[in-house]
Amino acid sequence: MADAKPRVFVTREIPAAGLDRMIEACDADVWREPLPPPRETLLEKVRGCEGVLSLLTEKVDAEFFDAAGPQLKVVSNFAVGFNNIDIAEATRRGIRVGNTPDVLTDATADMAFALLIAAARRVVEGQDYIRDGRWKTWEPLGHVGQDLWERTIGIVGMGRIGMAMARRCRGGWNMRVLYHDRYRSEKAEQELDARHVEMDELLAESDFVSVHADLNDTTRGMFNAAAFKKMKKTAVFVNTARGPLHVQSDLHDALAGGEIFAAGLDVTDPEPPELSDPLPTLPNCVIAPHIASATVSSRNGMAEIAADNLLLGLEGKPLRCWVNRD
Ligand code: DGY
Repeated sequence: MADAKPRVFVTREIPAAGLDRMIEACDADVWREPLPPPRETLLEKVRGCEGVLSLLTEKVDAEFFDAAGPQLKVVSNFAVGFNNIDIAEATRRGIRVGNTPDVLTDATADMAFALLIAAARRVVEGQDYIRDGRWKTWEPLGHVGQDLWERTIGIVGMGRIGMAMARRCRGGWNMRVLYHDRYRSEKAEQELDARHVEMDELLAESDFVSVHADLNDTTRGMFNAAAFKKMKKTAVFVNTARGPLHVQSDLHDALAGGEIFAAGLDVTDPEPPELSDPLPTLPNCVIAPHIASATVSSRNGMAEIAADNLLLGLEGKPLRCWVNRD
């Protein structure tokens, strides 16, 4: 009799480029509902599984690992970010964790670029103006936004996506590039003439601040009232990384009180924002529903890597993109 296929739980339908291979190779239970499985259901579904394909909406922690059981070998996250997973706990238990870097770098930088220009040039506000029937004539004093050409971009987190965003700003608008990161990036300094600066200098000098940092205990809430106060009143804040990097009520107050000019967000805290949250109602806040990686090639690439990670982990082999290798 053929060996039984390994049991896996796939917490959402992902592109066929990865899903079909997991279904073929495994005894796969796929959660096909549009909303994530409720916590209790998730904990039931993972029981006895050797592998789990998770999304950033699933909290993968000690309780999750306990519910799954000691046979769990691999958690393959369908995202480059893995702040939803307790990596230390996974490592302690010998569970491999995979992620999906690179394939979404350009798509995410494109979204940061789109949000920057949309917020700086008041594109969405203009569209609402038309939809509300308020457009009566061409207005010499109306809808005035911020210039982009040869301004200064401040990149917080000069990793792959930060670098791709900096390249767009330098190449597209000849911007001066400042960056803040734990590590110096020789590549950014040589290729883009980027300058490594302390956070306060970046906030004070930048016309646009785009955050591309990981979410962790050090970075959580780094964009708070004090940070927004240090920024220019004409500045635009862009966040395509994780919502909790900014303090949402402080961002609201900075935008409503004119501390900064505008914001472009692909992420919020929480996601989606509470219906009572006033932030989405502000005309100078452009918000997209966490769609930076939503292009055909990025999502297919993510699905392929996520499937590779899961299948390799089930076989006890090195993952293609292995978060806790070391
Ligand atoms: C990620 O990959 O971390 C994004 O936030 C979703 O694509």
